[in-house]
Amino acid sequence: MKYEVSEVRQTFLDFFKNKGHKIIKSGPLIPQEDQSLLFTNAGMNQFKNIFIKNNIPINKRATTSQYCIRAGGKHNDLDNIGYTTKHHTFFEMLGNFSFGDYFKEEAIQFAWELLTHKKWFNLSKNKFLITIYKYDYESYKIWKEKIQIPPKNIILVKNKTTNIYDSDNFWKMGNTGPCGPCSEIFYNHKNNSYSHNQNNTYLEIWNLVFIQYNQKNNNIYIPLSHPYIDTGMGLERISSVLQNVPSNYDIDTFKALISSIAQILKISKKNHTSLQILSDHIRSCAFLIYNNITPSNEGRGYVLRKIIRRAIRQGYKLGQKNIFYYKLVQPFMDTMQDITYPLKQKQKKIEEILRQEEEKFIYILHRGINIVQKEIQKSINNTITGETVVYIYDTYGFPIDLTIDICKENNIKVDIKKIQEIQKKNTINLTNKKIQHNVYINIKPTKFVGYKHQKHSGKIIAIFKENKKQNTIYPGDTAIIILNKTPFYAESGGQIGDTGTLEAQNGTIFQVTNTKKHQKKIFLHLGILNHGILSINMKIHA
Ligand code: SER
Repeated sequence: MKYEVSEVRQTFLDFFKNKGHKIIKSGPLIPQEDQSLLFTNAGMNQFKNIFIKNNIPINKRATTSQYCIRAGGKHNDLDNIGYTTKHHTFFEMLGNFSFGDYFKEEAIQFAWELLTHKKWFNLSKNKFLITIYKYDYESYKIWKEKIQIPPKNIILVKNKTTNIYDSDNFWKMGNTGPCGPCSEIFYNHKNNSYSHNQNNTYLEIWNLVFIQYNQKNNNIYIPLSHPYIDTGMGLERISSVLQNVPSNYDIDTFKALISSIAQILKISKKNHTSLQILSDHIRSCAFLIYNNITPSNEGRGYVLRKIIRRAIRQGYKLGQKNIFYYKLVQPFMDTMQDITYPLKQKQKKIEEILRQEEEKFIYILHRGINIVQKEIQKSINNTITGETVVYIYDTYGFPIDLTIDICKENNIKVDIKKIQEIQKKNTINLTNKKIQHNVYINIKPTKFVGYKHQKHSGKIIAIFKENKKQNTIYPGDTAIIILNKTPFYAESGGQIGDTGTLEAQNGTIFQVTNTKKHQKKIFLHLGILNHGILSINMKIHA
């Protein structure tokens, strides 16, 4: 086969090495010291400080193939998976960088040479379409005069709002950080099936960003003292073009992965959308767990949990009635041989975490799907109300994003704004709930184990609902739970209280939205029972 994925990656790096760039290893997938990012979402992340602090390194040219996750934060493609075949939650981004060295002209010329020269990718020159930021006259001139792209194939993209920097051709890393106008390179890839709904044969393959500002917040853009180049080309996308296959899922690595998944799940229809989703999701799940993220109800762990649950539902759609997801780790390992991480070392851990998470979720999933299906049958005007979606979550613990996804597949409308409104109100109610401290009499002090442990087992010694002692609570109940021991840090002296879950072996999940203290010694876990029944004396994992 021409241009296997590993060859595409190597050719890209070699091309830029030839042009004086230093090949640098992928930066970490989980940003180490950058609170503004949930995951590494672009090749330039590892160079952010060079850009904003003007710390120019000795070697002013670099090239990388960066592992990226786009499943949360500003660049989030999770909702595209299953609806397009060109986005991924995990992918590799090829890039070249200039740190105060060359700028627009060379960046554009390098890109053009790699894409079209017969020594390199040798793509047909007349199949390109270029977009540029409307006020970037310099780039326009380079594309038109130096590269000789006909003006009809150069699209000027203006700002979407009155904010001149609010444009699809003004790239931003996040809500703050390095940013600048960009020029995107599209290729007319006929016979593609990149989108299940759109009839668009042009595929964006490369984004050339001209980093010129440090964004402080929405309205403040500080010009940098040097201009920088940051480019990004999705390895899977360019491979689909070079292999002349209709979608990312048809390139050699994905094809092999999908074929093994189909074999494990005994599915004969290889182009089934659910198989594509599973092949995408197992990659990001395995990489996240490899990077020590575990499923939880907040932050990165929550994104992981969401992806796992979405994957498991796809298995259900393919007829899987038993725990299956962990079995996809082996084919993932087999198709990731050329990744620089020693993935195999953590194979057992990845499998175990996926297995446990599916075990916890399978009952909620099966029951929840039936409930959503019933609501769809009862729906009026092909619509399910926001209240119903939230009710299904509060009562049965069935995730809101899965209900929305099932509705989307069935062409059922859901009022997402309403859902957000209700959730916001619920959180405010929960946090503001008045705690009557006179009810906590005759309760033993809680042993705090949180300095040593993030997780710990414990026993429920008291439950309060609306300031009244209870023996049992039910799904949807908001309550205060007291344990004999807890790893949850309680709100004090300006430090916020911990959030997390209390989980029992039978699948019960109590979501802790805040932790407070009574008389400095009794820890109060405030929250809502998502799933199952919670009773006094029950053993839980906190
Ligand atoms: N940072 C740009 C992007 O992610 C180019 O690499 O598209």
